[in-house]
Amino acid sequence: MEAMLIDATKKGAEKFHLGTVPTPRPAEGEVLVEVKAVALSAWEKGFTQDDDPRSLTRRTRRRAVNLGLEFSGVVRSDGRRFTHGQHVMGGPHLTKGEKALAQYVAIREEYLAELPDNLGFLEAAALPIGAETALTGLDKATPRPGDSVLVVGASGGVGVYAVQIAAALGADVTAIGGRNSGPRLKELGARTVHSYRDTSFEDLTGTYDAVFDLSGRLRFGEVRKKLSRCGTFVNVNPHKDLAGTAASLFSKRKVPFVYVPHSSTAAQTRILDMVVRGEITPVVEAVHDIGRFRTAFTDLTHNERLGKIVISY
Ligand SMILES: NC(=O)c1ccc[n+]([C@@H]2O[C@H](COP(=O)([O-])OP(=O)(O)OC[C@H]3O[C@@H](n4cnc5c(N)ncnc54)[C@H](OP(=O)(O)O)[C@@H]3O)[C@@H](O)[C@H]2O)c1
Repeated sequence: MEAMLIDATKKGAEKFHLGTVPTPRPAEGEVLVEVKAVALSAWEKGFTQDDDPRSLTRRTRRRAVNLGLEFSGVVRSDGRRFTHGQHVMGGPHLTKGEKALAQYVAIREEYLAELPDNLGFLEAAALPIGAETALTGLDKATPRPGDSVLVVGASGGVGVYAVQIAAALGADVTAIGGRNSGPRLKELGARTVHSYRDTSFEDLTGTYDAVFDLSGRLRFGEVRKKLSRCGTFVNVNPHKDLAGTAASLFSKRKVPFVYVPHSSTAAQTRILDMVVRGEITPVVEAVHDIGRFRTAFTDLTHNERLGKIVISY
């Protein structure tokens, strides 16, 4: 089958190329899915920006297909839960096994959810891990109607769902995103919007019941000053602030552990129910055919994106 491969000797988007690898055979508990669309995320951005051949060789030596953590497609084998022909979405395991930017992926059935009739492959691919990470973070922060929620990095692939889900829960959402994303973030449910280029986190004067950081820049030490007395700092990069996470153990203000290594049927089903109810909508910045994959990877590293870049097969 055709798959997106990485040449560790090349730089930027030039390192990606289409090659041929064996079509995967589903193991016990897996089904084979013909991939129709893949969304690019911070994971692919990391590979695009990594121009160190030694680092790239280390990161790619264990598997053939290293890219594609969120996808949609058609089931092409019969499993226990899913059968041939069903339209599904999901996200393979972050650290184990092959990823999805290929013609086919073999994936555990408990990572998948069936698409509703009116949701296309391109939109569905933009949902799985971004929306599940947002949902998991907000499940930990448990905002109630009227609570104030600040989303930093709101214009990215997780942020656009954090804004929508928090708004659907009735929270008063403040979003910090890219310069041009303001009007769209308001449409998605933010009441107040700032551009991170004009307003930094330190500039904000309010306090928040939850701060959700997708920019990877905030630490508990600075966030705690802007949290309400029992507020929550949702940090999706906890490894970057271990001292802060430890300090929160002695504070009323909490830093829950958020780690979504793969999608889960239960969370994906909740997300699709929200889509069907009109509470969240997939946010797609651009769609590129697989033949234009270098443009897709280049776009991914440009600032001012809103939501996901999707590659269609
Ligand atoms: N814990 C988990 O299980 C889990 C799961 C998924 C993702 N993640 C992590 O979540 C983070 C976000 O992922 P993503 O896919 O949403 O990435 P993304 O699409 O690149 O989003 C990051 C956003 O942050 C914005 N940003 C950059 N600098 C900023 C600043 N100083 N202040 C405010 N916003 C700023 C970016 O804007 P520009 O585009 O203008 O630069 C972009 O919109 C990544 O660090 C990723 O590794 C964790």
